[in-house]
Amino acid sequence: MPLHTGRHFLQIPGPTNVPDRVLRAIDQPTIDHRGPEFAQLGKEVLQGMREVFKTSHPVIIYPASGTGAWEAALVNTLSPGDRVLMAETGHFAALWRRLAERLSLAVDFLPGDWRHGADAAAIEERLTADREHAIKAVAVVHNETSTGCVTQVGHVRQALDRAKHPALLMVDTISSLASIEYRMDEWGVDVTVGGSQKGLMLPPGLSFNAVGPRALAASKTARLPRSYWSWDEMLANNTAGFFPYTPATNLLLGLREALAMLREEGLSNVFARHNRHAEATRRALHAWGLEVLCIDPAEYSSSLTAVLMPQGHDADRVRQIILDRFDMSLGTGLGKLQGRIFRIGHLGYFNDLMLAGTLCGVEMGLKLAGVAVASGGVQAALEFLADHSEQARAAA
Ligand SMILES: Cc1ncc(COP(=O)(O)O)c(C=O)c1O
Repeated sequence: MPLHTGRHFLQIPGPTNVPDRVLRAIDQPTIDHRGPEFAQLGKEVLQGMREVFKTSHPVIIYPASGTGAWEAALVNTLSPGDRVLMAETGHFAALWRRLAERLSLAVDFLPGDWRHGADAAAIEERLTADREHAIKAVAVVHNETSTGCVTQVGHVRQALDRAKHPALLMVDTISSLASIEYRMDEWGVDVTVGGSQKGLMLPPGLSFNAVGPRALAASKTARLPRSYWSWDEMLANNTAGFFPYTPATNLLLGLREALAMLREEGLSNVFARHNRHAEATRRALHAWGLEVLCIDPAEYSSSLTAVLMPQGHDADRVRQIILDRFDMSLGTGLGKLQGRIFRIGHLGYFNDLMLAGTLCGVEMGLKLAGVAVASGGVQAALEFLADHSEQARAAA
């Protein structure tokens, strides 16, 4: 391992950089999770998370990674053999599908090219054809972290409505929550899945289900086996701020601080900041003469940008050079995109100069790797950032 000084640049699309304020909040003596201090903390974070999901309905917090919350969404609402409609947006959609199949659900997997979000028209077509209402749930990934493509959840909702189909709508917001606009109630989402380690600026270890009334009603008759993930025991305990088993106390202290930071900045400003950094990143890519993996500008991710490598170049070699020379971690290509792309994470606790440093590392790394890129990518991003600071503030 090369010896490095200064701060490591962690620019993967999650886990993200944890602010010092959050680290200090976590760094506290353990408290009694059945005592009054915890009850207050529990109530505060459970309420605060509703604001982030933009829901008036309950949020459940698991001491688990995001995969746990995926499983929880399915086992609480569905029965063995139920049909679920999913869309192949990328690696994470494929993993959620595999999980559903292991749980004995029957998945209709709409094929995709890993360069787009879920196709709302194709979803509408499938639902319209399903006259018997055999499909019990539609499950999509809002921000596909493996590709940097966003599914327009409002359009998926409209697809369900137009098809007059009663399926539950489930959305994975693991890499969009608190980074990209998300409106659970307005979009009529029944279960939202979230995780702590991305836009929420926390270490990994917490995950979430935000539960709408139709999903809660479905949970009363759903027959998939569940114990640890069971919503009913959680909700019963949560009313007093407690959990049915030992919660991740110190991560919840961090969550309270992260929620305070998001409130201070204002969610709409948080989204504008992410949009701006994503646009600056794309400007750099275009100036270098490289391609953004996501094809449709309406689906560009503001959490990350996936960079398509020119033929004959291995993205992981570029990442390795950047790690060795500049101590910066970038996201690898996942699944069938291994070696073809690298991913620049620009979400969470992040600012203009962090982006500038990130893009400098990428530009130098590409050149060191012998990739024929034009100069001026960093410059294009800096010019955009300089020109658009006022507009961003005004828009906020
Ligand atoms: C969109 C998305 N869904 C699900 C997951 C799985 O979450 P975890 O790795 O925390 O279990 C991830 C992880 O990066 C993700 O990005």
